[in-house]
Order: sequence, then structure tokens, then C-alpha cells
Amino acid sequence: MGQTIAQKIIAAHLVDGKMEPGCEVGLRIDQTLTQDATGTMAYLEYEAMGIPRVRTELSVAYIDHNTLQSGFMNADDHRFIRTIAKKIGVRYSRPGNGICHQVHLERFAKPGKTLIGSDSHTPTAGGIGSLAMGAGGLDVAVAMGGGAYYIPYPKATLVKLSGALRPMVSAKDVILEVLRVMSVKGGVGKIVEYGGEGVKNLTVPQRATITNMGAELGATTSIFPSDEVTHAFLKAQGREEDYMPLAADADAVYDEVIEIDLSALEPLAACPHSPDNVKPVRSLSMTKVDQVCIGSCTNSSYADLMTVAEILKGKTVSPEVSLAIAPGSRQVLAMLSANGALTALLDAGARILESACGPCIGMGQSPNSAGVSLRTFNRNFEGRSGTRDAGVYLVSPETAAVSCLTGYITDPTSVPAAAPVAMPEAFPINDNMVDLPASEDEYESVEVLRGPNIKPLPVAQPLTDTMELPCLLKVGDNITTDHIMPAGSKILPYRSNIPHLANYCFEVCDPEFPARAMAAEGGFIVGGANYGQGSSREHAALVPLYLGIRAVVTVSFARIHKANLVNAGILPLEFENAADYEKISLGDTLELSGVIAGIENGAVTLTNKTTGCVIPLRCDISARQAQIIRAGGLLNYTREKNR
Ligand code: F3S
Repeated sequence: MGQTIAQKIIAAHLVDGKMEPGCEVGLRIDQTLTQDATGTMAYLEYEAMGIPRVRTELSVAYIDHNTLQSGFMNADDHRFIRTIAKKIGVRYSRPGNGICHQVHLERFAKPGKTLIGSDSHTPTAGGIGSLAMGAGGLDVAVAMGGGAYYIPYPKATLVKLSGALRPMVSAKDVILEVLRVMSVKGGVGKIVEYGGEGVKNLTVPQRATITNMGAELGATTSIFPSDEVTHAFLKAQGREEDYMPLAADADAVYDEVIEIDLSALEPLAACPHSPDNVKPVRSLSMTKVDQVCIGSCTNSSYADLMTVAEILKGKTVSPEVSLAIAPGSRQVLAMLSANGALTALLDAGARILESACGPCIGMGQSPNSAGVSLRTFNRNFEGRSGTRDAGVYLVSPETAAVSCLTGYITDPTSVPAAAPVAMPEAFPINDNMVDLPASEDEYESVEVLRGPNIKPLPVAQPLTDTMELPCLLKVGDNITTDHIMPAGSKILPYRSNIPHLANYCFEVCDPEFPARAMAAEGGFIVGGANYGQGSSREHAALVPLYLGIRAVVTVSFARIHKANLVNAGILPLEFENAADYEKISLGDTLELSGVIAGIENGAVTLTNKTTGCVIPLRCDISARQAQIIRAGGLLNYTREKNR
């Protein structure tokens, strides 16, 4: 039987497990990336494993999230990452060099390679044919140390593309259409592959926009073939030697097929507050706009920003709109500067931000209260922008640019089309903001510099067969990692300071939770469906661990968060019958019994001591994950294995 693209890469990297539904597979990882918000923790964890030098083909530490420096914390953490990267053999991409996924696509990602990153949008590199997955920092630390990365063997979805995009309809509209069809839960346990005749009509940056936002489907990853378009992109980036062709076999079998005719697509928008709340832009045309933000790892390529410059050239942004633009990388910014497009943007009234995540992570540019913000980003969860009651619409650069001129959400196909942007034959190459690690002869003398913001990692308690503890928090469906551990400029500088972060845990849902948990010295969280969706942020597991959470009982989990809970040493349990969710209230005393056997055989019993109800739970984890839970988390498990 023929293989899909992902199956070919998995087969070539398989070190453990069987490529069969229901099995867990361990993959050899060629490349890793970290960003600074999760990276400090990943490097502390790496350090704790005691392996002197990384064993991957390439590892890169990017600084792109916390680039605002209003206190010493971010600067200290950057210095820590810079020095430890140098010591352990990791390249260091300085602040200002760009957003991790954009820079990785331009300079490092390779077809046919495996990549994991401590950022959920790592699948961006799927646009170039990498099998690229978002993971927790600890998983990345283990991969840097040469350990395998484990995933449930995924199902295969084919999105079969035909036709070509019409002018002013963009790659963003493709992924919004996929989100409309599949929903934010539709990709769980699947790898989404793109194929069909339409693929050749999409550039690598367009493909990367689509795979980037595959993260919002909950998919393990998304991937495009590597073809002549990929070849031309790598050649233009001076990396022709990194090219290899990669395609699914003609008789590859997919579990599901979704067909999309690119020529039939129209501009779409994801309305507040979910990326799958997708509507045609034309249906929103009377909506007044307060802010437009263009950038992020989804839509800040050279072609994206050139298109915006074309639309804005010679015009002025509406006086009632604030337009902020963050180019995805220094390469993009340098090109806009060299060809005059930057001047067109400035002349139109754009506020140019540095090449970093910026407003996407709530680092500045929060909208006005109850404001409408149009963003070319990938997420619009409530409060992520920094303004609780703002409504964020996710749109293409074309829709964003046209709307910032009119002051209303405007269908870009209703105005004259901007001239298409050709991909340059050669991108300007300058890697002088990527510092190389110390050599094998020098690394031992490199001193790792750490500031007072770096606090010890929390450690899981040994597993007991019975636990009688209170329900310390009860939350509903679709709890995101932003709910569990908010981001934003107030909190993010403390990402290596778990005790401080603990004060903000579940701040939006229940501000009393941290104090209650600290007082109780141990307890459980009860959640609804799709608990932990959103990001790879392992702080969303480490902070509850610090607060004494021993198990999280939900209707269902999002993949990366569930893995992060296991890695932290917290039991992830699911209701056998979803309706039993109603049988637990905040403050109830809950007893988990048969835990030791349950992590092996998949069944744990919960008794609600307050009401007398007995509730069956599932512990749906692999044999390897059961060992991790037993060992008190992945760090202890890895240490034990390396001993
Ligand atoms: Fe950064 Fe936002 Fe992407 S925080 S990595 S630009 S999702």
C-alpha cells in the first residue's frame, strides 16, 4: 500500500512503536526550536538532565515573544538563553531577527526532516515539507538530548486543492475555510496533508500560512509536498542543497478527504472568539474597525507585506483606525526597506513595530475597550489581545489592508485588485543575528549567566494508589492555555518564575483559585471538553503542579496539553460518561482509587465523598506515559533512564 507524505517521514524516523492506529510512535528528531517564553524553562529542564551538548542536527533558540524590556526580567532571560545556547550547542537568534517560525522557514527548515518546537505554531515548517510539531518545553529538552518524541500514531486527512486563488483572496482564506469545515477540534489525532493540482499554485510562504494555522484545528501537524515551488524557494534563500522532492504515493490511503476549489474561495474572517467561527467578509461589511494589526507567524512574509504596501500606497489609513505592522523577520523588513515599500507603509500612516510576535502575544497594542481589532494572526481567544471585551477578527492581509483604509470591515474583492507580488529570485541573506554555539573545544569554559528571575522547577509528588483531595476548580468547555496561564506583558516576563506566575493561574475563570489551592495543599481540577486547547505552553501544567494539582478530570483534553500534564507528573483523567461532569461541584471531596493499576489498564474510579456518587474515569495514556507518571514526570523519568 502506498504511503502519505507524513507516513514516509515517520517511517524514516521511527525508533519505537508501530505505525498502526492506536499505537504510540517514538520519532528521532532532526531539528528543534524554542522561543523565549517557553525556552527558558526548556533550557532549565535540559540542564537538569545533565547532558552537556545537544544531539540534534540543528537546534535554534529564538527570542521573539518577550522583546519589550520594561524591567530587568526579559533582558536577564535573554542573556540566560544566549549563554546556555552557546554552551550546549544551540544557535541563538537575537531579538529583532524575527519570529521563530518565519525565520526557521526562511533559513533552516528542510523537507523530509522532523522538527519539534516549544511553540504550537511549529507546524509552519510543514509548508516546506518538514514534519514539524508543537511540543512542550520538556519534550524539546528531551529531543535536544537525543531522546525520541512520542505521538499517538495519527490518522491521515487529505485536503485536496484544485484551481488557483482569485486576486485578493489569499492563503489565509484557505485555512479559514478548512477551519470552517473541520472546526477547532476537527484535527485532533490527525495529520492534515495538502495535495491535488492546486498545490502548485501556492508559494512556500502561502503554504506556511496554511500549515501554521493547522495548529488551530488541533491537528498533530499539517504538511505540504516538497516540489519545484519548494525548490525555487530554497534556491532563492541560498539553500538549494536542502531541497529534496517529497510527495505522497499515488495509491496512498487517507482516512478522510476534504476537497477545496481555490478558485471558488472568497475572503473569510474568523469572528470573536474562536478561529473556527468563520464567516464571509462580505457578511460583516457594516462592522466598524478600531484597530488593524498585520504580522505574526501566520501572515508576515515578504509577499504578505508587499501586498499590504501595494494596497496602501498613496493612501491614508482611516483616522479612526490604528494600524500596526510587525514584519515577520529582519529579512522581510530589510527587503521592504530596500525597495521602498516601507516608505509606502509609513506614508499611509502605519505604525511599524519590530520583527517579533508583539501584539499577537499581548505585548503591546491592546485594542481600546470594547474595540474591534482586525488581525492577520492565528488566534482570537477572549482576552488574548490584552483587552477583555475586545472583539478580534482573524483575516487575510488583503482584508486587513483594505479595511484599515475604509474604517469598516471591507471585502477586498470589492475594490480594484493589488498587483500580484512575484517571489524574488534571490532573498538577501544575512545571518549575522544568528549566533553560533561554542565549539567542542571551547564550550566547557562558557559561563551560563542567570538573573534573580530564574526560580527552581516544581517537582511532582510520588504517585499514590488512593488520593482523597478537594475539587479546587471547576471549569467548562474549551478552556485554553491562555485561561490556565495567561500571557501578556504583565505576566510573561516571569516565565522562569513559577511561584510568581502561580498568582495568575486561572485568573480569568476564578481569581480565588491560586489562594484556595495554596491553602488546600493538594487537589483536583475538573474541566469540560477540549480542555487545554490553544498552545504548547507547558506553564499551563507546571503552574498547576506548583499549586498542588495532582489530577485533572475532564470530558476531553487537547493533545499537547494532555502530554504536558503527563510530562509534569499530573494525572490526566477523562469521564467515561461525559454527563458525569455534572456530578461534581467546586469544593466536593473526591477520592481517586485504583490509581496505580489504573494508569496501566486505563480505568480509575472516582468517588465523590460529598455526594456519595461513584464515577468511572478513563486514563487514556500510553505504557510509556504511565511510566512517566509513575516516575513523577518526564524529567525524573529521563534522569532515571540516563542513569
Ligand atoms: Fe508569536 Fe503569535 Fe506566532 S506569539 S509565534 S506570532 S502565534
